[in-house]
Amino acid sequence: MEYWNSIRGWLLLPAAESLHKFAKLAPAEGMAVEIGSFAGKSTVCIGKGLGVPQRRMTSIDLRFQPDFRSNIGFYGFDKAIQTLQGPSLDHFADWDSPISFLYIDGHHGKGYALADLMVWDMFVLPGGYVALDDTAGFMIGPNLQVQAMTAGGAYEFLEESGGISFLRKNHNLSSISYHPLSPAVWFATLHRVSARLGALDPWFRQPRLPTQNPPLSEWIDRFWHTSPAETFSLVTRKIRQKLGHSVSSGDGGARPSSETQWIREHPVELPSREQTQAYLVGCEDFRAGRHEAALEVFNQLAGLAPEIAFTHFNLPVCDLALLRSAQVHDIMGQRQMASEKFTLLAGKTGCPELREFAGRHTGEKFAIPSTKPTMLLREFTLDLHAYKRQQP
Ligand SMILES: C[S@@+](CC[C@H](N)C(=O)[O-])C[C@H]1O[C@@H](n2cnc3c(N)ncnc32)[C@H](O)[C@@H]1O
Repeated sequence: MEYWNSIRGWLLLPAAESLHKFAKLAPAEGMAVEIGSFAGKSTVCIGKGLGVPQRRMTSIDLRFQPDFRSNIGFYGFDKAIQTLQGPSLDHFADWDSPISFLYIDGHHGKGYALADLMVWDMFVLPGGYVALDDTAGFMIGPNLQVQAMTAGGAYEFLEESGGISFLRKNHNLSSISYHPLSPAVWFATLHRVSARLGALDPWFRQPRLPTQNPPLSEWIDRFWHTSPAETFSLVTRKIRQKLGHSVSSGDGGARPSSETQWIREHPVELPSREQTQAYLVGCEDFRAGRHEAALEVFNQLAGLAPEIAFTHFNLPVCDLALLRSAQVHDIMGQRQMASEKFTLLAGKTGCPELREFAGRHTGEKFAIPSTKPTMLLREFTLDLHAYKRQQP
């Protein structure tokens, strides 16, 4: 107790006791996550209650205090508790474990507080506990969190002690579930894979990824749109990246091929999933210069009935496959064959954009534009954007 009293922090004794009490009650199937650890005063209460190291716990902080490690080390937790440095929302991007006790004491701004709650809630198990700091009245963000949780009955309010509210989960806050196998996640990943490959762009261009050399204008933009603490963290992480330290990144983690593999290995029941996946594999082969393999895929798909449209775009798979097949022939130097296929597509497709593109290349050799992509993934507007489906 004497040591705990000496740890720097704002945590009051009744709040500390309740953190310990509810962490102890947390369902065994999940782990504990703490957002905002500072010097570890709350970390040790949760760790003790939960039963670390027998049970798993992760602490997240923008910047852990220098004495954080020694403080949790005093209780034997220094190796047992996983620490993730950086903004909590960044770490959500790579998260995949069920949570049975969640403590949020990070950024208290209205938007950040609500965003933290909405995203981390997706991993909290029904029957799991959520503790929210600074709900004693004067902070709008944390109070909004409590309202959002109780208004629709997603959580049951249990108690408030020492300025921390404790709630138990009934069901998810939003209808979106971040379970990796939910159709929404699969569909979003499909969109991302497709955009990264440039698979629906008639020119087969690829966008620039957020992790590739942002121009100065974007740095300035980021500076104005983040808090000073967030900017500090971003700059620190960039410097650490340059120095070769491994840091977790909020975006652009997996390469296109591994994501394509992921969507193949995690099938969900959505229309034309198999044909869409096959088409993306063909695009991947095309990109990698495996022209024969790409042709085989595209030629097979080009024979599909026009009613079979992509899962994520309302366009016939056979039309895009025929387009790619013609393009591969051109890249392989088979102009005659390419021209015949472009002519065939121009004559049969019901999509004016594809008709126009194919018509142009009946007499003009196709080449993937060599200019360096400048468009960011999020700004990547496709000629066929109007055909995009919004949800499964
Ligand atoms: C009040 S302190 C936490 C105190 C700690 N829970 C305790 O009781 O001893 C808030 C912490 O949240 C961290 N923080 C602020 N914004 C954050 C964010 N977006 N992501 C992660 N941590 C954040 C700060 O670095 C700071 O250490």
